[in-house]
Amino acid sequence: MKTRITELFGIQHPIIQGGMHYVGFAELAAAVSNAGGLGLITGLTQKTPELLAREIARCRAMTDKPFGVNLTFLPTVSSPDYPGYIRAIIEGGVKAVETAGNNPQQWLPLLKEHGIKVIHKCTSVRHALKAEAIGCDAVSVDGFECGGHPGEDDVPNFILLPRAAETLKIPFVASGGMADGRSLVAALALGAEGMNMGTRFIATQEAPVHEHVKQAIVAASELDTRLVMRPLRNTERVLNNAAVERLLAKEKELGANLKFEDIIEQVAGVYPRIMQNGDMDAGAWSCGMVAGLIHDVPTVKALIDRIMAEAEALITQRLAGLLR
Ligand SMILES: Cc1cc2nc3c(=O)[nH]c(=O)nc-3n(C[C@H](O)[C@H](O)[C@H](O)COP(=O)(O)O)c2cc1C
Repeated sequence: MKTRITELFGIQHPIIQGGMHYVGFAELAAAVSNAGGLGLITGLTQKTPELLAREIARCRAMTDKPFGVNLTFLPTVSSPDYPGYIRAIIEGGVKAVETAGNNPQQWLPLLKEHGIKVIHKCTSVRHALKAEAIGCDAVSVDGFECGGHPGEDDVPNFILLPRAAETLKIPFVASGGMADGRSLVAALALGAEGMNMGTRFIATQEAPVHEHVKQAIVAASELDTRLVMRPLRNTERVLNNAAVERLLAKEKELGANLKFEDIIEQVAGVYPRIMQNGDMDAGAWSCGMVAGLIHDVPTVKALIDRIMAEAEALITQRLAGLLR
């Protein structure tokens, strides 16, 4: 399948694996790229730029296809060494960067100078327009369904994607709630030129996370996610568990007086304990409503091949058949 997204990134299928903290290591990124999609290493999971450089080199040893790096610009006061991470990306010869969080404008000239394509992840049309105006090559439009941070507008993809299509000139991928060939065809119909998946890629053989995490996603239904940190305007969609219930009870109790320190135990530093040790009640971890559509743990290649075969059959048989 050819779209502006496959052309932009030099990939076979219009499928991107979104950056995921403590999931997006070289093994997963390489598996996605080898299967014809665009795999992404999660930059900030690597604690220093030197470690990111090493992760990029590991990925390069596992694939000769294009892969990228996610750089999440956090709204924190003490910022990570972003210039160092960007240097690691440039020196590592990476040609695709997914930015997320704060506005990436100050880093764009340097990335562009080195021929790096930038796709910015946004949860609203106004942020997507801003990304287009500052020179991003594409955007990833994350609807309210998504795992991770859906923003504060709560617009689901059935509205958000066509709104993006009627407003943007640069290509965009649909993100949030995407799982299979149906998702891809729907995304294309709504105006996107591909799709980005997070949660679906965690439940794959190659995702380098504890088996408990994959099984939790397979066991979960579409009713099992919760929104946390809304009072802090840092809303995150997570899988419900004992820690999340304690966190929500704290939010209810403190109301508008809630501060980050009140919930630090449930959200800070919990990813390694969950993703690596499989301690599923250690804290809140991002997960999309799409868990309800995930019933197996295939290899990445089997998943991507299945998505593309389903999409083709849907377009050429079911949809074309309706017109006969
Ligand atoms: C466990 C997990 C961790 C994530 N970590 C990040 C991150 O560090 N940076 C980022 O930009 N997005 C992050 N995301 C969001 C994904 O890249 C993607 O946008 C989202 O998962 C899409 O929604 P879906 O899960 O319904 O496919 C994360 C998502 C999950 C599920």
